[in-house]
Amino acid sequence: MSSVAAETDEKAGTAFPIPAGVFAETVTSVNHYTDRLFAFRMTRPQSFRFRSGEFVMIGLPNAEKPVYRAYSIASPSWDEELEFFSIKVPGGPLTEYLQKIKPGDTVLMRKKPTGTLVLDALKPGKRLFLFSTGTGIAPFASVIRDPETYEKFDQVVLTQTCRLQAELEYGRQLVDNTKSDELMSEFVGDKLLFHASATREGETRGHRVTTLIDNGKLFEDLGIAPLDPETDRAMICGSMAMLREIEGLLQARGFEEGANNKPGTYVVERAFVD
Ligand code: A2P
Repeated sequence: MSSVAAETDEKAGTAFPIPAGVFAETVTSVNHYTDRLFAFRMTRPQSFRFRSGEFVMIGLPNAEKPVYRAYSIASPSWDEELEFFSIKVPGGPLTEYLQKIKPGDTVLMRKKPTGTLVLDALKPGKRLFLFSTGTGIAPFASVIRDPETYEKFDQVVLTQTCRLQAELEYGRQLVDNTKSDELMSEFVGDKLLFHASATREGETRGHRVTTLIDNGKLFEDLGIAPLDPETDRAMICGSMAMLREIEGLLQARGFEEGANNKPGTYVVERAFVD
């Protein structure tokens, strides 16, 4: 192992100079949920603006040419810090190091946010469905904490499917905190519903959201009407297989994909998919 690798292994910090043209921000907190998932918060550049649901490219100053990966911003646009929710990929070129960050470390962020999981890419509607698996919940953590979401929709239905119960903890805390937050509770009221399922343990074993849409159990569990393209809008974020399957289910019900320049009845983010 070279001395550089040894150094960066110990601290996901500043072994190399900060490249020009990126923001260099300071980690303020790190929360490990499981051996596969963690969230962190960092300082937000004063000039940095984004729309809830967008993503940025994140890297570390641990190589001359840092590796960047697309990360949804999980915090809402009014938050004075930035939050991210990440998987830990063993041997992953970024997450192998990113998972070791500590408060005080530096994280690099390219300056331009972008993405399709934004309210602007959806036509007006009554209910907003946010379908996620794993860390795909991250952009929706931003969307459900944006007051504009509740100005535009009467009901917001967030779903997350993970392998294990412990992996659902970030989403559970997020929803609880959003509902009880002094500022947000005024907007959210009883409009926010959360459906969580762990596919590999517990009562919801085998309950992928795709199955639950298909057999109607999702709507039964929540006590709401099934999907209707006239009134409903949807955002999808997860693995490629999950995106394809949910898109298929939506299209079969008459939903049409939207984009920033052509709003539709559902949107998908493909930036995170390998
Ligand atoms: P399963 O446990 O049945 O594979 P991963 O960690 O592999 O990204 O998976 C996250 C969650 O997404 C798991 O609960 C997994 O279910 C589920 N999942 C995987 N593929 C699909 C799919 N095509 N549609 C819906 N859920 C999926």
